[in-house]
Amino acid sequence: MALCSWLLLMMTGYRAALAAMKSNVAPYMRERSWVDHKPLQGARGESKSMGVFLLPCAAGEALMIPGENYICVHMLEITDLHVEVGEKEILHDINLKIGDGETHVLMGPNGSGKTSLLMAIMGFSGYKVTQGKIMYNGKEITHLAVNERAKAGIGLMFQRPPTVGGLKLGKLLTATSGEPKEAIDAYAKAVHMLTFLGRDVNKGFSGGEIKRSEILQLMVQHPDFVMLDEPESGVDLENISLIGAAIGKLLEKDLHIVHRKKSGLIITHTGFILDYLDADVGLMMCDGVIKCRGNPREMLKEIKERGYRECMECQKV
Ligand SMILES: Nc1ncnc2c1ncn2[C@@H]1O[C@H](COP(=O)(O)OP(=O)(O)O)[C@@H](O)[C@H]1O
Ligand SMILES: [Mg+2]
Repeated sequence: MALCSWLLLMMTGYRAALAAMKSNVAPYMRERSWVDHKPLQGARGESKSMGVFLLPCAAGEALMIPGENYICVHMLEITDLHVEVGEKEILHDINLKIGDGETHVLMGPNGSGKTSLLMAIMGFSGYKVTQGKIMYNGKEITHLAVNERAKAGIGLMFQRPPTVGGLKLGKLLTATSGEPKEAIDAYAKAVHMLTFLGRDVNKGFSGGEIKRSEILQLMVQHPDFVMLDEPESGVDLENISLIGAAIGKLLEKDLHIVHRKKSGLIITHTGFILDYLDADVGLMMCDGVIKCRGNPREMLKEIKERGYRECMECQKV
């Protein structure tokens, strides 16, 4: 398809080629950009000085049309990222692109740097970027403060969140969301946390309750880019299905990818979460490097059968 259009471009001029391209590009691309020509939020949209339209990339596609000056922008784009934790380099040369509506799952042995990557994207101070950059919706956020990143729409669910004595969960939800009580109650009810709103954050919560509390905190913030660090760890089967359904909602999995505006990066060890989410891309991290990129279910199957042994040899990025 693309090749035909490019040949036509050379033979008949770009107008005709562009028309052919517009009718041939994947439907989601047409709906998202060509047909609607919707102005986009934030850094995306028309850059008047450059005369360029910045469009969201979907399903990992990168698209640049000469003449019309369309460039597609991934929701998250990480280039050559190196990160130090405690003066030791933990992440080396990370490159990652996540388009609108996509969910990527990150797997890898303990201590390989998965949590460090999420913390670095969120901008926590202990995770020092020594090289490379992080772009979010076309805007560089490499050195932006954590709260600025949260305001821009990035949300994180911790693997082991702290207990916050003296702060009621309901108060925290109101402060971080600005939502009225009725709305917060409705979200809390959906994840069976209504009776927890008057309790100190995570104090005495079981494993499943902590995870539900974390999900609830994300739900009220409506993040566009959702990062989850082992959402299923330490959780029983009943809670996994509840948490899986809530994550599906957060990532708008009920919508076709064409209409989805939310993207995700999810760390999983067990892969249970894949039963509730139609993840698009699997990533394997070993020793601070993303070694493989592929079908998440196939990758998980291989890990289950052969462990992480193949990890060091895999170079399919
Ligand atoms: N605050 C820290 N100080 C020193 N080393 C750390 C710190 N946090 C993490 N690390 C180290 O970084 C490496 C990666 O850890 P982490 O990102 O938590 O891996 P994963 O999530 O894949 O298990 C580990 O060797 C860990 O010990
Ligand atoms: Mg971890």
